[in-house]
Amino acid sequence: MIVRFPKFNFSQVRAHWSPNAEFAQKFNAASLVPAHVEPYLLKVMKLAQEKLVPGTSLHREADIFCKQEMQHMKQHIAFNRGLHDQGYEGLKPIEAKYAADLERYLKTKSLRFNLAYMEGFESISAAGCHAWFEDYVPFREGADPEVDRLWTWHLAEEFEHRSVAYDVFHAVSGLGPITGYLYRLYGYFFALVHIGKFSRKAGAYLLAKDREGMSEEELAASLAREKALGKVQLRGVLKMMRVIVSPFYDPAKRAEPKGQSAYLAAMTPSRVSGAG
Ligand SMILES: [Fe+2]
Ligand SMILES: [Fe+2]
Repeated sequence: MIVRFPKFNFSQVRAHWSPNAEFAQKFNAASLVPAHVEPYLLKVMKLAQEKLVPGTSLHREADIFCKQEMQHMKQHIAFNRGLHDQGYEGLKPIEAKYAADLERYLKTKSLRFNLAYMEGFESISAAGCHAWFEDYVPFREGADPEVDRLWTWHLAEEFEHRSVAYDVFHAVSGLGPITGYLYRLYGYFFALVHIGKFSRKAGAYLLAKDREGMSEEELAASLAREKALGKVQLRGVLKMMRVIVSPFYDPAKRAEPKGQSAYLAAMTPSRVSGAG
């Protein structure tokens, strides 16, 4: 695991960065999640690190995890700024509610809960990661290379650090194998509902804005594309869910999404740091 610092230029990027506008908007909604959840993950991981032994491999991996997430959120925040400026200001109150929830969880809930939420998020991102490299390839055809590169890099690193939150949760939660398993499931489903609600609301807002003024024909075509995408998305989530809910789930053993490691190996980052 290493930290990469790719550069992006989102100044020319349009909200409809893929020829399939509904696909672009669903990912635009998804891009709001890391802007809020990843700063929260850094805080949770820092609290957990106080309970880990410095110098151990898990402590070092937690450091790299935080540095990778820091770069992800920075780039998504930059991308999202451009999105807001394209007439989607109405996203801000939806985002504010989600950010306030995370702030409240940090202040009022146990570290165990927050670790389970963190692992829940990492498990959720697994489905997106596999889908991006495999199921979504046809939707990405003709996409703006800057946005495509943002998500490919981000999701490839999500796969790379897939075990860290899981290992930290089990090391710090103070739970045994059975209670740890049940609490991990609780965190996964809690995060799935919470993040799902937020991104669906943001996605619905973006599509509703786009559909203002559409002809009946355009609207029918847009709804049909959304439905087709929804089927692919749901299939990916359910496929991954079957893996994640198993008591024998181990992220380290997850199959690599096609092309993930080759992509990271071929990256020419402006700067890299860390090792592992
Ligand atoms: Fe990330
Ligand atoms: Fe992550």
